[in-house]
Amino acid sequence: VKHNLPPLHYHDYLKLDAILNSQKTRSKEIGHEAHDETLFIIIHQVYELWFKQLLHELSSIHNIFVTNKVAETHMGLIVARLERMGEIFKLLIDQIRVLETMTPLDFLDFRDFLFPASGFQSFQFRRLEVLLGLKSKQRLPFSSQPYTAALRSDQSKELTQLEEGPSLFDAVEDWLERTPFLNLADFDFWNLYRTAVSNMLRTDQQTVTSYKELGPEEQARNIKIIHEAEQMFKALFDEQEFEKSRLNGTWRLSMKALHAALFIQVYRDQPVLQQPFRLLMALINLDELFTNWRYRHAVMAKRMLGTKIGTGGSSGSDYLTASADQHRIFQDFNRLTTFFIPRSQLPVLPSTIERELGFYYSAK
Ligand code: HEM
Repeated sequence: VKHNLPPLHYHDYLKLDAILNSQKTRSKEIGHEAHDETLFIIIHQVYELWFKQLLHELSSIHNIFVTNKVAETHMGLIVARLERMGEIFKLLIDQIRVLETMTPLDFLDFRDFLFPASGFQSFQFRRLEVLLGLKSKQRLPFSSQPYTAALRSDQSKELTQLEEGPSLFDAVEDWLERTPFLNLADFDFWNLYRTAVSNMLRTDQQTVTSYKELGPEEQARNIKIIHEAEQMFKALFDEQEFEKSRLNGTWRLSMKALHAALFIQVYRDQPVLQQPFRLLMALINLDELFTNWRYRHAVMAKRMLGTKIGTGGSSGSDYLTASADQHRIFQDFNRLTTFFIPRSQLPVLPSTIERELGFYYSAK
């Protein structure tokens, strides 16, 4: 492409004057420079830059979902970008080790000067959570205030609006609901699948009752878990029961979307389902990596703080550890795994359906 842009210097292109002059330590301002405060600042800045890149990827994925209704040709791009996000998260997890070369005592050389600044105020982090699909009502209460109270007022307003719009979770739910292969005329797939799962759960129960090494309490506990799984599975096929289980938080996706996710995963060997399957895997990986970051950060906070409260006023590492599980977004995909059955027991697809699911050129 022809252009009239002037020649460029490396420093100007990367705005290095601004970036490299942005590490002002509070300890130096006070006259007792703490050596490790520079590391502390740079690590946080690097995180914020990566958050920016993650948001860049996420909003492009969002646009593809919204504007293209995810034509097959875009699926590869979405998966590639989700995978890139996953790779970035791996870096974010690894970076914690660099920060841990700072000892808790070194941290105390400047920690008091930071109060009440905290990662809790990271707007980009909150945008990431909200755009992925974390809702306010799902969040662990942090204090009597909503989480947005810690942010600047313009940012808090923007986040509230963002939460009202569609998230990646919503886009994925929509896409799953549009999966075309669920209406399998002449083939009562769901009834066959239900029977196969019931048989599997019954076998599980027999295994537990015949396993004499288990004490009566352990046995009762395991059987209760199996019964709960049975109820959860039944609710997947009964509109009213399903709505109840959605209200009590067991499931978040719609019934139709869950059916699609189950179908895609158990029949993933069918050629046409491979890309959708990769998309689900990329989402599961991303959710898992995000959760790993939360745990890793919580463990680091424990090492640095012990049981001290955070500079942002939370209970510190206890809050962080609990939020790791509570703030998962695509948890439904993990719950669904309970109802996977071995390939050998899957209902055999009639050849008419198998042909539809195959790539055209390979259809018999
Ligand atoms: C010495 C190192 C660190 C310690 C001791 C620490 C500790 C904490 C604590 C206790 C909280 C809970 C809120 C509060 O009470 O302040 C928190 C939240 C947070 N921190 Fe850190 N942190 C450290 C480094 C980092 C780094 C390098 C990042 C990277 C951006 C980060 C990002 C966050 C985020 C995003 C939250 C909000 C998490 C949530 O509410 O789910 N922290 N941190």
